[in-house]
Amino acid sequence: MARLDDAKVMVIGGASGVGFAVAAAALEAGAEVIVGSSQAPRIESAAEKLGRGARGLTVDVRDDASVAAFFDAAGPFDHLVFTAGDWGQRFGSIRDLDVEASKARMEVRFWGAVRAAKHATRQLAKHGSITLTSGMLAHRPRPGTPLHTASNHTTEGLTMGLARDLAPIRVNAVCLGLILSEVVQAMGEATIKGFTANLPLPRGGKVEEAAEAYLYLMRATYVTGQVVRVDGGASLV
Ligand SMILES: NC(=O)c1ccc[n+]([C@@H]2O[C@H](COP(=O)([O-])OP(=O)(O)OC[C@H]3O[C@@H](n4cnc5c(N)ncnc54)[C@H](OP(=O)(O)O)[C@@H]3O)[C@@H](O)[C@H]2O)c1
Repeated sequence: MARLDDAKVMVIGGASGVGFAVAAAALEAGAEVIVGSSQAPRIESAAEKLGRGARGLTVDVRDDASVAAFFDAAGPFDHLVFTAGDWGQRFGSIRDLDVEASKARMEVRFWGAVRAAKHATRQLAKHGSITLTSGMLAHRPRPGTPLHTASNHTTEGLTMGLARDLAPIRVNAVCLGLILSEVVQAMGEATIKGFTANLPLPRGGKVEEAAEAYLYLMRATYVTGQVVRVDGGASLV
């Protein structure tokens, strides 16, 4: 496995779940890692758990000034991974949609990614990369999820647009199926089974399995504007 020695990796959303696993894998590969998220106690505890080579910084991606300050504090770096996501709001069916309230759901996952990419560019190496996060509802919509589908597509569209706009910095995304982060595990076994039983790989993915894709995209020096799916084969059914 190619090492990431001498690389500095920033993971926004690194307090938990997939982001935390990416931070751990990057450290394992020799990188220096800075994890960021909005709740100071959570990010401090994540950095402590990650151990030597890791640092935690608070950042709220809903706030442009906070994102700017985060990258100023971090200094020059090589790779940005963005896994920040809030789970509070549910869109629901278009029939019952509160349109104004629904806009808030784009603040972290979409506009947060936009803010991160914008401010990262001041510190990000030309040989470096940005990896965003999408979800399989983009490609396998369900009843009640039209805006989830749309919001994940906007992330994938942003990935392609940024790959042209920021070249030679590479910009890619990982599209996740059901990955067993803490928040997903809390949904309970029956729900998880309901989502995964018919997959070619009939189970939820481990966060470490998702992290592999982000590590690949950091190292893949001839890949840009692409979306790698980690979905247990959900694309096939
Ligand atoms: N797990 C899945 O099955 C799955 C499937 C499809 C897509 N996804 C997407 O993949 C991403 C990661 O998922 P996950 O399961 O690892 O979720 P997670 O454990 O909840 O991780 C999300 C992280 O984002 C941080 N965050 C939330 N609001 C933030 C803000 N305003 N500013 C900065 N950081 C913020 C959280 O930390 P703080 O609370 O400290 O801010 C948390 O560490 C999410 O965007 C999710 O939508 C996940």
